Amino acid sequence: MCGIVGIVGRNDATEVLLNGLEKLEYRGYDSAGIYVSQGLNKGSLVKVKGKIADLRAAVHQEDVGNIGIGHTRWATHGQPSKANAHPQSSADGRFYLVHNGVLENYESLKAQYLNDIKLQSQTDTEVAVNLVATLVQKEKMSVLAAWQKMVQLVKGSYAFVLIDRENPQQLYVAKNKSPLLIGTGATFNGVCSDSLALLNVTNSFIELHDGDTAVISSQEIKIFGQKNEAVKRKTYSVTLNQDDLGKGTYPYYMLKEINEQPAVLRFLEKTYLNETGKAVFDSRLLDQLAQAEKIYFVAAGTSYHAGLVGKALIEKLAQIPVSVELASEFGYHLPILAKNPFFIFLSQSGETADSRQVLLKIKKLGYPSLTITNVDHSTLSREADFTVLLHAGPEIAVASTKAYTAQITVVALLAQALRQKLDPDVINFDLKQQLSLAANGIQTLIDQQELIEQLAKDYFSKTRNAFYIGRGQDYYASREAALKLKEISYIQTEGFAAGELKHGTISLIELGTPVIALITDPETADLTRGNLKEVEARGAHTLTIASENLAQSKDQIIVPQIDPLLSPLLTVIPAQLLAYFATIQRGYNVDQPRNLAKSVTVE
Ligand code: F6R
Repeated sequence: MCGIVGIVGRNDATEVLLNGLEKLEYRGYDSAGIYVSQGLNKGSLVKVKGKIADLRAAVHQEDVGNIGIGHTRWATHGQPSKANAHPQSSADGRFYLVHNGVLENYESLKAQYLNDIKLQSQTDTEVAVNLVATLVQKEKMSVLAAWQKMVQLVKGSYAFVLIDRENPQQLYVAKNKSPLLIGTGATFNGVCSDSLALLNVTNSFIELHDGDTAVISSQEIKIFGQKNEAVKRKTYSVTLNQDDLGKGTYPYYMLKEINEQPAVLRFLEKTYLNETGKAVFDSRLLDQLAQAEKIYFVAAGTSYHAGLVGKALIEKLAQIPVSVELASEFGYHLPILAKNPFFIFLSQSGETADSRQVLLKIKKLGYPSLTITNVDHSTLSREADFTVLLHAGPEIAVASTKAYTAQITVVALLAQALRQKLDPDVINFDLKQQLSLAANGIQTLIDQQELIEQLAKDYFSKTRNAFYIGRGQDYYASREAALKLKEISYIQTEGFAAGELKHGTISLIELGTPVIALITDPETADLTRGNLKEVEARGAHTLTIASENLAQSKDQIIVPQIDPLLSPLLTVIPAQLLAYFATIQRGYNVDQPRNLAKSVTVE
């Protein structure tokens, strides 16, 4: 949520900021702005309501400088508008601030310190920048002291970067709960919410911890810990292929990412399975998992849906009970936990605030944890005891696709490793073969785009609502299928347990309501077909996605044969494509749906 970038020591600062914001646009895209300095008390502030392309168009030739800050916003306090866009400036015009996060006590701080100031925006950020100005003006503090005092006064989450017009050679930085990294170069330094923003100028980064503040010039980086003591933080390199960052020849990132799924699965198979088919993970991780009386998946959104599929994989393969928990609920309503619990955090971004508050709580209780994430060095990865990477490459489209299939695959691999550890003689689940079938099957389904595009037109061009139904793994895949369709096409869609419809929700079925059934499990196939008949009798427009061995002549989409435990890897593909085409046909932006952002760093 919200993307921040700052740079000092580059004559092309404006371009570095705009380029960085383009890479961060997935984090929010309702308004944006930059401030670049042309020297003492000279600078350009450009802000727009809209996207980075609008910001680029609003930037003039003279808006140059060698230091600057930029921001792309996902509104929390105050609607998207030019006035509420960042950078926010202090009333005296001296300080410019960008912020990602939420300040819980901004109203009381405003009442206590800023009575004489007329604020121009509805943002909490404007309070923070005016606090710095007030502490400098009235309490005669140095800017650094005022900066650190402001950070102590605010409560909540923040990644902050500030420029002082009277000393435009350095960036003041602070971080708590929201992600922020320092990017380093020989003659410049920068700061960003995600390394993607500065990857075209550096691949060397320094991680900041919660409570850190820093002062960054072109030649020097000073970092301070919570008590303002000088601290050193870890430097690391990011090795990412620049090609991974663009759309290539695809019209949207989502389509590119859907197409990457077979390659991701094959890469995971190669990474985590050896030649003999043995799943290989850190032995200390497997030891701790094997001792768990119960495993808890904690996640949100699509990752939560991957956890639901993962539950059956671990329970069936490793015979360890699993509970799947919504992070935003679990942390505040901890149930009675099993003895020796083990927590697995599933998170594409590794930054989700809802998941992180649970991680912090269970760490305090002394329980072991693993983060399964796509982003190395992300917060959840750093803070858990173990990390397993998804290796899916950057996922830029807001609607998650390849991260979901990668999460299921990694959990399957982990389940297999546990099974091999707990019962080395029993290896009757050939995961290598299954994953290879899955990768090929995904490709077969992707190759049916023309059919799926037509079905999207037939089923979704006019409808207001829709249902996906299924049982077992098909039900869990239905939950994800429904999320895909609703979040980008705005068709109100529910993923429902097929047998549960008749207990109330069937009253929503009207003439023409699309009901899409996923049928891949021989044990329940007939039951789900019966439920389809029930909705057809009430006028529903039904569509069936069935596996080869269960297919009937009228089924519209046939998915290749695979073990039903892993069927969501395949059934989700037509659902992703149906969502994609329905959204295009309805005229919406596939990659940037309204009201949403990727990487949800507020609770
Ligand atoms: C939906 C989607 C979200 C995320 C959720 C958790 O397509 O992407 O539902 O899955 O916000 O994000 P992560 O996985 O980054 O923790």
